[in-house]
Amino acid sequence: METQLFVQTAFQQNTRIVSCPGTRKAICIDPGEPLRSVADYIANNELDLVAICITHGHLDHIGGTAFLHERFPDAEVLLHRDEEPLYRSLRLQPLAMGIESHQLVPLGMDYDDPPEPTRFVEHGEVLEVGDLKFEFRHCPGHTPGHIVLVEHQQRTVFTGDCLFSGTIGRTDLPGGDHSQLIGSIRENVLSLDDDFTVACGHGPDTTVGAERENNPFLNGSYRM
Ligand SMILES: [Fe+2]
Repeated sequence: METQLFVQTAFQQNTRIVSCPGTRKAICIDPGEPLRSVADYIANNELDLVAICITHGHLDHIGGTAFLHERFPDAEVLLHRDEEPLYRSLRLQPLAMGIESHQLVPLGMDYDDPPEPTRFVEHGEVLEVGDLKFEFRHCPGHTPGHIVLVEHQQRTVFTGDCLFSGTIGRTDLPGGDHSQLIGSIRENVLSLDDDFTVACGHGPDTTVGAERENNPFLNGSYRM
């Protein structure tokens, strides 16, 4: 498995192109903004982009979906059904954050509508990308339709904004729910072995074991 990281947007979001070296098939996880560097990486490495996988619909994770899908229209656009309202609200999200309409262009937030989802993925569904197999797991709590992707053979879980190194996703935005998020992480991420790499939506990678032991939201040291 090859992973190319692009840190994007003012929110320092981790956009990743994950590819199978043997077949050149690839997915993009969370295209944060419409940057040519991501599309050029796919083209220059002669990758076959089979899907754009959306962990959740916040603007820093989906702002580049329309751009990327225009360049690679055969790629499926995949998300969870419960995330559709947030996904479709992309153009309104900056305004909900208090950004005024005249600020949208200078801030790079004058988004196009995201493309139609190709289909909705179910909890437990597996996407084959060449020799790679990504299992989608529904992990609500940061948002209602958040998903994580588990590649069991590669011992890696892509956690979006559920789980970060040393902390967890915020739950104060619409649709957020702290106890639901903790339950999602326990069930879907901490159920994996300690050596699994956790590739987060922001910040550095970590491991399941490190988070189980050190993350204050998961090891019992933080109480609401
Ligand atoms: Fe988010």
